[in-house]
Amino acid sequence: MLSVEGLEAGYGRARVLFGVSLEVPPGRLVCVMGRNGVGKTTLLNTVMGALPATGGKVTFEGRDVTRLRPDQRVRLGMGYVPQGHETFPQLSVIDNLLVTLEASAHRDQAAVEEALEVFPRLKPLLKRPAGFLSGGQQQQLAMARALVTRPKLLILDEPTEGIQPSIILEIEEAVERLHASGLAILLVEQYLDLALRLADAFLILDAGHVVRSGAAQDLRDEEVHRLLSV
Ligand SMILES: Nc1ncnc2c1ncn2[C@@H]1O[C@H](COP(=O)(O)OP(=O)(O)O)[C@@H](O)[C@H]1O
Ligand SMILES: [Mg+2]
Repeated sequence: MLSVEGLEAGYGRARVLFGVSLEVPPGRLVCVMGRNGVGKTTLLNTVMGALPATGGKVTFEGRDVTRLRPDQRVRLGMGYVPQGHETFPQLSVIDNLLVTLEASAHRDQAAVEEALEVFPRLKPLLKRPAGFLSGGQQQQLAMARALVTRPKLLILDEPTEGIQPSIILEIEEAVERLHASGLAILLVEQYLDLALRLADAFLILDAGHVVRSGAAQDLRDEEVHRLLSV
């Protein structure tokens, strides 16, 4: 479904990604792990086209998307929830969802109801400005917005970072249900136990290189702990 080959990117002259390759097969959940600053967010931003690739290739459903704009990738079915749960803070919850619906390829109103079924906690909050929600609720709204576009692949950057434990569980369950429903997911997650519960496969980045990859059960070994410990 998603294939990344030899991806290179950086900021100005500072190179961050050094030939990163990964595959997300249809319906699979692949977890990208690694310490702070190793390039996880840079990888996702480059996969989505928010940052230009200086080398390598991104293929989505057999199509080379490396030179497409982010909105073009969204329309092809790549949904992205960036790190830090971005929403439109002045807009109400429902307007956050409707703005995304307007920009979607399908514009089917039913997609808003479907997204709210995944995050029922948002239903009583529809008229509230997004900026007034808690961090966890904003994360759910950011994920609901991505779902409104009816993605074939959902890309999530640390969806549980800095969020109160009660909502972490709800977010984890939502990711689990979406995965079970057949959605392909590329997840950046720093917590090993969460990754172990959710992922089919994983890769570990270190200083912009993939240093380990494998099936989720391989995450239990000693070297993995060494690569993830600070
Ligand atoms: N906008 C930016 N401009 C310059 N350097 C950046 C920018 N964003 C991230 N970096 C640097 O790129 C490296 C990787 O960052 P990032 O991809 O955010 O890592 P991670 O998500 O794994 O914590 C870090 O050294 C970081 O300081
Ligand atoms: Mg990051």
